[in-house]
Amino acid sequence: MNDTLDITITKAETSRLTVTDFSQLPFGKVFSDHMFIAEYDNSQWSNLHVLPYGPIPMSPAISALHYGQAIFEGMKAYRQANGKISVFRPEKNFERFNKSAARMSMPAITKDIFMQGIAALIDIDEKWVPAQDGYSLYIRPVMFATDPYLGVKPSDKYIFALLTTPTGPYYSKALNVKIETEYTRADDGGVGYAKTAGNYARSLFPFAEAQKEGFDQLIWTDAAAHEFIEEAGTANLIFVINGKLVTPSVRSTVLDGVTRDTIITLAKKAGIEVEERRVSVKEVIEGIENGSLTDAFAAGTAATVTPIGAIGYQGKTYTLTDPATRTISAGIAKTLNDIRYGLAPDEFGWNWVL
Ligand code: COI
Repeated sequence: MNDTLDITITKAETSRLTVTDFSQLPFGKVFSDHMFIAEYDNSQWSNLHVLPYGPIPMSPAISALHYGQAIFEGMKAYRQANGKISVFRPEKNFERFNKSAARMSMPAITKDIFMQGIAALIDIDEKWVPAQDGYSLYIRPVMFATDPYLGVKPSDKYIFALLTTPTGPYYSKALNVKIETEYTRADDGGVGYAKTAGNYARSLFPFAEAQKEGFDQLIWTDAAAHEFIEEAGTANLIFVINGKLVTPSVRSTVLDGVTRDTIITLAKKAGIEVEERRVSVKEVIEGIENGSLTDAFAAGTAATVTPIGAIGYQGKTYTLTDPATRTISAGIAKTLNDIRYGLAPDEFGWNWVL
């Protein structure tokens, strides 16, 4: 990325900052004053624009609505201890975004547009980056198909947008999760590894059913036999078994999480053995029962590091160790936060300081 792009800036006439309560920031409900938009047509991206956040007029026939050509990402900008703003590992999200795009027959976004769009948006909405510990400005890149055409084919036109929302962690307490053995999130050869809208849509009904039973989230298992643990849909899953960090390996049905990758790197650096492999439901349940599984958590950009308090499986509840006693995940979460907020050296060059 080298070329400085021509981005049109249209400033909002008034700011919503003064009427926003930064002590009440539920995930994804409050948006900053501006958004970034780029348009794809005739095989190229153009009309790069930072403009006031608001509705985008479009035809009800757009193919994103009918056939689901829609992908997204999630990143966070942090207010560092010295007041500067940094975005955590945006290049990883850029790469994954284009992997999702390729799988969904959508055009790649250029790195210049992705990165300079973020920089321009955060520059104008700099005051929206919260300063409280544990808070950040969540950045949501999204691309969707805008051809007003009902034939089933890849769209010729797309919108790429960046939205930002100041937020705390997605989950506020340890999770009571259910191992799902009826419905599935993804199957081999499908789109499970892509961050595409339909993966989330199909999870909503099973999730609502689980909520009726008192669960906060699902643990998805493989579609073939419900024998192996995959991910949580909103986050990857990591366990500590016999003192080792054990996490389902990334495959076509599991999202290649940036937080997951970061935690693996930090754990290895701290001398903790890491196993990325298939993890069976049996191993997890037996590990809880015999005490070899001492820690389990969800890891994601929105979820951060959220402890799993209990697991439901085939009508039984298995309570895990008290989250307050878990040194491994708490230690990793602290190191990760210290790096993000500029309180610890950024040895791996993860922070993109703006
Ligand atoms: C993220 O962690 O950025 C996600 O996209 C999860 C979201 C669906 C809540």
